[in-house]
Amino acid sequence: MPSLNDIRSTYLDFFRRNGHRVVDSSPLVPRNDPTLMFTNSGMVQFKNLFTGVETRDYTRATTAQKCVRAGGKHNDLDNVGYTARHHTFFEMLGNFSFGDYFKETAIPLAWELLTKDFGLNPDRLLVTVYHTDDEAATLWKKVAGLPDERIIRIATDDNFWRMGPTGPCGPCTEIFYDHGPSIWGGPPGSAEEDGDRFIEIWNNVFMQNEQLPDGSLRVLEMQSIDTGMGLERIGALLQGKHDNYDTDLMRSLIEASAHATSRDPDGPGKVHHRVIADHLRSTSFLIADGVMPSNEGRGYVLRRIMRRAMRHAHMLGAQDPVMYRLVPALVRQMGAAYPELTRAQALIEETLKLEETRFKQTLDRGLRLLDEELAHLGEGQPLPGAAAFKLYDTYGFPLDLTQDALREKGRTVDTAGFDAAMAEQKAKARASWAGSGETADAAIWFDLAEAHGATEFLGYDTETAEGEILALVGDGAALPRAGEGRQVQIVVNQTPFYAESGGQVGDAGWLRSETGMAAITDTRKAGGLFLHVATVTEGEIVAGQPVKLEVDHHRRAAIRANHSATHLVNEALRRALGAHVAQKGSLNAPDRLRFDFSHSKALTPAELGQVEAEVNGYIRQNGAVETRIMTPDDARALGAQALFGEKYGDEVRVVSMGREAGSGKGTGGETYSIELCGGTHVARLGEIGAFVLLGDSASSAGVRRIEALTGQAALDHLNAQQARLAEIASLLKVPAAEVVERVRALAEERRALSNEVAQLRRELAMGGGGAAGGPEAREIGGVRFLAQTVAGVSGKDLPALVDEMKARVGSGAVLLVADTGGKAAVAAGVTADLTGRLSAVDLVKAAAEALGGKGGGGRPDMAQAGGADASRAPEAIAAAEAVLAAL
Ligand code: ALA
Repeated sequence: MPSLNDIRSTYLDFFRRNGHRVVDSSPLVPRNDPTLMFTNSGMVQFKNLFTGVETRDYTRATTAQKCVRAGGKHNDLDNVGYTARHHTFFEMLGNFSFGDYFKETAIPLAWELLTKDFGLNPDRLLVTVYHTDDEAATLWKKVAGLPDERIIRIATDDNFWRMGPTGPCGPCTEIFYDHGPSIWGGPPGSAEEDGDRFIEIWNNVFMQNEQLPDGSLRVLEMQSIDTGMGLERIGALLQGKHDNYDTDLMRSLIEASAHATSRDPDGPGKVHHRVIADHLRSTSFLIADGVMPSNEGRGYVLRRIMRRAMRHAHMLGAQDPVMYRLVPALVRQMGAAYPELTRAQALIEETLKLEETRFKQTLDRGLRLLDEELAHLGEGQPLPGAAAFKLYDTYGFPLDLTQDALREKGRTVDTAGFDAAMAEQKAKARASWAGSGETADAAIWFDLAEAHGATEFLGYDTETAEGEILALVGDGAALPRAGEGRQVQIVVNQTPFYAESGGQVGDAGWLRSETGMAAITDTRKAGGLFLHVATVTEGEIVAGQPVKLEVDHHRRAAIRANHSATHLVNEALRRALGAHVAQKGSLNAPDRLRFDFSHSKALTPAELGQVEAEVNGYIRQNGAVETRIMTPDDARALGAQALFGEKYGDEVRVVSMGREAGSGKGTGGETYSIELCGGTHVARLGEIGAFVLLGDSASSAGVRRIEALTGQAALDHLNAQQARLAEIASLLKVPAAEVVERVRALAEERRALSNEVAQLRRELAMGGGGAAGGPEAREIGGVRFLAQTVAGVSGKDLPALVDEMKARVGSGAVLLVADTGGKAAVAAGVTADLTGRLSAVDLVKAAAEALGGKGGGGRPDMAQAGGADASRAPEAIAAAEAVLAAL
């Protein structure tokens, strides 16, 4: 009996032999579709190849595609577990031709695979074709020899496949298997078609049209093929089962659930095991593809599936978390075909365990409340909406979980009442917000957030994605469209752009639509909405349009490197300086990083060197950066660094990096840095490339600031330093290695020379030097007085000159007026024998006044002052003489 893994390989091998490229499954979160919640068929990743918008280096492909149908249009959640063929997660096997072959090849290939490689009995097979598709009917007759009654023409949309309201589409032919008259049911198109006798196993779509937004159908230039066969269905058939859950793969998961809960897999808890087996697959694969449980969008669908599974585990009597213990069984089954599952195993287990542990606390109380409510209700009465809302709001019961719990009791929920209670709560939120005096702009954001929910951030996993424009806002008003040159803020339903927060700057990049292009210069947050700050650069951008969003990769890569380096620096500082180091602020820009931290002293060169070397050591270690979601308590228990005073929600994102090196004594291997952080990071530390500390400075009292560079910016900085050194060496005409010695010698020489110059200047000013030159002293008021004007000296040279003049006069008073380039400086001196009678301060004050200055100070033997106008030197001397004359 072939296993599901065998069947998948047989399918892919068959098409590989027939010239098809085996392409990996695309992620469950579509990168190229703005409106699709999850990838729900094989053709999603090829959508643009059918319409000719994109080409690749192959025209035939085959895939086993991971699909999730839960939430949105194809919502199978309610039925899962209770029926034979409903799943939230399934694998779609498909072969694709992009303008290569069409019906004439697709039909024979399908027939050959089914009847030869898979060995199905041709007599059991029948097909449907679109009622006008004679060509397909003729081919089936010719290739498979099917009689007319087993080629059923269907006129409805069942045989015209569309991926959605717009996009590539075309007539299709579906292949059915007849389980024989022992099972009730009729062929497709008959009144009994919903029975289980005739099971559809494969859909072949003849892609030839594109559904346009205006409702018209365009004929595509290329004729292409898109097929889809559920692995679980064909698996059941080839394993002789009628129920997908009886296939080997699903059975092994059911048995793992039975084992973990010690409950018979086929006993009264059968449905619960089936729900758990299915939901284990969807939740694990979603987490592996980057979806995290949350209260919005995709994360909320994930949470709903998780909680539904947990309730079923609870009904099996499980007291402790169960789901996370089943992950190894799933990885054993599917990890080889989907390596991402193996890679994410730890993350999946932790995320499930966390959600289970948290939900468990409210599950019991919520279910009790539900029972109490039911006790009050009459026969067949639905649960009042208010009660369902309370379960949702207080106990975290998604509506469909409540509905599922009631289903077994044959009851429903008053959903209109639930919606009314929800609307009332929103109205209250709005009213309390309206009183908070926010700005006019904020009113727009509030309404948008209420209408559409928070923007879904895809940027942890991708830098490009498609989104749908929910609003264009310019000058505080919503715009229907924005033309070239217009500055706008653009809100989309989902985006890869990171909005500024936690010190990391907002992303920049481009937005393209069918009608235009915009340059995004920044991304900011308004509540849960991401605002893309943009200027329209080409054509026009229209509200409601699907758009391609592309983050500026180089800029983001540089920001990422700086952000991860900031975490390393934070830890390195704590190790170098002590546990008092706490983050006080940070900036992670594309060109540099800045980190403020509590520490009261400047860092020594040795400390800076140690931090820089340690960070570079971890960069070279090139360890993986790990991201996990946990409760703040668990994060604290791990020793995660958090920002003091910051409010954290029920769940936090924890980023870990670096492994401590062993010391040879059995230590080491500990995680180096663990921080609470919502930012984007490198995948491996080696991507940071290099780290250069520019130095530290004081930021505010008790807070130091470090600035640093990474990657190319760090290398550019080092290169610039190198070039400067080379230039200095060439100017000094010495090898670079001798520059320091040479500069030291030059500085010494310069000091000696400048002393010599000062001495020569003084001598020159005093008239060629020596006591012989210069003016003669005169006797005034019985005191010998020597006055002189000089130029080319500065104020600080005057005391030395005054001393010299005092020596020349022997006993007396001296006055020196210097022209310091238009302005004046004046100094006076009195020899020691006369300071009892006369003060130099009086002389200088009188002189300074005459020079247009004020004041003057010093001691009785030496005083100095400044003046405005050196040309008044004669008046200054006269004023000093007057002081002497008055003695
Ligand atoms: N895209 C087609 C389907 O999903 C094959 O049925």
